[in-house]
Amino acid sequence: MKQLVLSEWLLTQLSQGAFPARMPNHRRVYETIRRAITEQVLPSGNRLPSTRSLAQDLNVSRNTILAAFDQLLDEGYVAAKTGSGTYVVYKQPEEFTKNPQTTTPLKIENNIELSSRGVAASSAPTNHEVQPFTPGEDDYSRFPIALWRRLLNRQWRALNPALLDSSHDGGYLPLRQAIADYLRVSRAVNLTVDQVLITSGTQQSIDLCARLLTDHNDCAWVENPCYWAARRVLEVNGLQLHAVAVDNEGMAPSTSDFRVTPRLIYTTPSHQYPKGMVMSYGRRRLLLDYAQSSNAWIIEDDYDSEFRFEGRPISSLQGMDQHGRVLYLGTFSKVMYPGIRLGYMVIPPQLVASFKNGLYELQRPGQVMIQAALADFIEEGHFASHIRRLRQMYGERRRLLQASLASVANVGARLSMVDSGLHLVVEFDEKVDDVRVAELAAELGLRVYPLSNYCVGEKQEKGLIIGYAYAATENITQYGNVLADIIQAALKEN
Ligand SMILES: Cc1ncc(COP(=O)(O)O)c(C=O)c1O
Repeated sequence: MKQLVLSEWLLTQLSQGAFPARMPNHRRVYETIRRAITEQVLPSGNRLPSTRSLAQDLNVSRNTILAAFDQLLDEGYVAAKTGSGTYVVYKQPEEFTKNPQTTTPLKIENNIELSSRGVAASSAPTNHEVQPFTPGEDDYSRFPIALWRRLLNRQWRALNPALLDSSHDGGYLPLRQAIADYLRVSRAVNLTVDQVLITSGTQQSIDLCARLLTDHNDCAWVENPCYWAARRVLEVNGLQLHAVAVDNEGMAPSTSDFRVTPRLIYTTPSHQYPKGMVMSYGRRRLLLDYAQSSNAWIIEDDYDSEFRFEGRPISSLQGMDQHGRVLYLGTFSKVMYPGIRLGYMVIPPQLVASFKNGLYELQRPGQVMIQAALADFIEEGHFASHIRRLRQMYGERRRLLQASLASVANVGARLSMVDSGLHLVVEFDEKVDDVRVAELAAELGLRVYPLSNYCVGEKQEKGLIIGYAYAATENITQYGNVLADIIQAALKEN
């Protein structure tokens, strides 16, 4: 099919398509092209128009097209050939090509069956393949499994029947106590044990905040760029996201932002995700005062504060809060292993009873045996020594990666020199197609994420998010050099 004709066809389909009102544009474009492919309007071997020209023809942003193409790539409908474009590679299943009548099931518009929440929740890319620099992945091969097994076995041998029940009161008390002691000392969190609730991780904690504190169409401020999973769970809860820029002092609300009153403010003050800056004292005060005067709640996501390699520990925002407006969230995904699905919230005193009830009514939390083993792990000092070991290992990986990427400065890229966390950011000029650079890296087995994918509002930043926690220390320099070459070559082309 000629490319202009294809654009016209897509335009007609997009204007006629029965899409749910809240389905995002990129999802509509994805659905329409996917249908064109499965219905053979675009048979295998056809080249798709460039993202730039398709964006122009359909009158949508290029990022919308890029996101749609990304999903088609992830799901194997199309493939990118370096230097020559994106081609349809989907083959009809045999029984459908043999007998055209049986094609009907392929025409089912999955998302039309879904609620707008369902559409928002299911529009994430489904490729979870982990490669050496994949952000958010940690090296749990170093987790002390024999010790953990011993602690779990000890609980099973003692078999306190109460630990087989679901958890009614915010989680296993000794674990909540151990977390409270840890947070008071290491994060300057101001709390009593009653305020600690055990959840199945940050994702569930944010979901609970959204469900219990907001109504459909309320506004939530998020940082731009922002942790995509937080953004998704807020959107799924029907919140209108308002993107607030970040600068080198963290979240930076402007006068016009203050006119859009939020019910929730989601922020990462100790280590802005993904860019890495620490929120300044002045900004913390500003945000706390604003939350108090506008009756907003602040969600403080303190996701990787254990991994600070240099300088003094950064205190929590919660510790400065005098009016009970901050809900502090932490997770065991990074220090233990992601599948443990345990995290915690520190709730302002006035919300504790409602959150305990809400957690029980909505989630029916359990896994108390694991909570008991984790309490022992912390109380017996294993948690502290495991963090020390990880900090040393990840610190070394970070140093090696920074050294091997230093050369990207020669082509105008800026490498973040963060002193904490598990990823680095290389920032590009805004003209650079960071999605393409990430694709080139993935073709060589180095999956990194484009910074533009984390951007929320108008302002699109370009760069790469590069995790260093997962790759083995001895491979970092070699892989880092490959990535540096890819970045240099791509930026020279621009
Ligand atoms: C900003 C941020 N918050 C929280 C988490 C952890 O979330 P969870 O506890 O749901 O695993 C991550 C994981 O990568 C993260 O990047």
